[in-house]
Amino acid sequence: MSAHSEPSPDAIPDTIPDAIPDAIRQALRRILECGDLETKLAPVPTLPAGVGFEGLSPIEIDRPCRDAEIAMGSGAESLPRPGALGDPRARALCLARFAHHELQATELLAFALLRWPDLPAALVRSWLSVLADEQRHARLYLARLHAHDACLAEHAPHSDYFWKHAGAMAAGGPPAFLAVLGLTLEQANLDFSLLYRDGFRAAGDEASARVLEVVHRDEIGHVRMAAHGLRQLLPEHHGDRARYEASVPFPLSAARAKGRRFDAAARRRAGLEEEFIEHVRTARSSTEHGGRS
Ligand SMILES: [Fe+2]
Ligand SMILES: [Fe+2]
Repeated sequence: MSAHSEPSPDAIPDTIPDAIPDAIRQALRRILECGDLETKLAPVPTLPAGVGFEGLSPIEIDRPCRDAEIAMGSGAESLPRPGALGDPRARALCLARFAHHELQATELLAFALLRWPDLPAALVRSWLSVLADEQRHARLYLARLHAHDACLAEHAPHSDYFWKHAGAMAAGGPPAFLAVLGLTLEQANLDFSLLYRDGFRAAGDEASARVLEVVHRDEIGHVRMAAHGLRQLLPEHHGDRARYEASVPFPLSAARAKGRRFDAAARRRAGLEEEFIEHVRTARSSTEHGGRS
């Protein structure tokens, strides 16, 4: 390259640090404002350490765009039990449901990151890393779904179970978001992921079982980050249990933060306090109707 073609120092914009958060926010917007799966699962640029979205204006998107193949509706047929997974159609239904959980988690992280730009930079970084994990999980489940000669379109409309709580999260702010996504839905998935791993394994579908194992391992990190984030946001509350109860919006509760087989060890690996683990283990709800949709 000739010296002539090199940019002069004057030509280098001094807005590079701002351009990176802007590019990331545009990618997050596309996750919510584009209806197609490929765009929603496209990688989001990496945020440099110490850089956040402070000072940028909030972007409030209440509901994601969805193309027909991933359209959402309320309610869904019940999830096959792990013992039913010898039937490939039952496996496909579970894989479609799990892929759609991951897609909703991806979208809700974008929803939160855009809505609350003044979050601490470290929290923004951790949410972006969780978002990338959720995109990867969605792809892993979709690959297994396709291996069953099935696709998401066959299962539309998909249950909007996670998105049903978006209004409550918007009202409750970042603590409600962490209590819903991280400490209720993801904490429950510590149990569901191993229950279904064993179901797929018993049915001879080892490849899907391994995906559930990867999700379970990553979910431990996500629950850890949610608990840590809530400690940062609510330092005036003492204990994980008190912080959770102060943040979780109705109708969610500790009774929804678990599956049929309670995995206390995974919760300890996620760093949850014993008092909170015991609180979730013993929680009962009169509105509980069994498994998560
Ligand atoms: Fe996930
Ligand atoms: Fe997760």
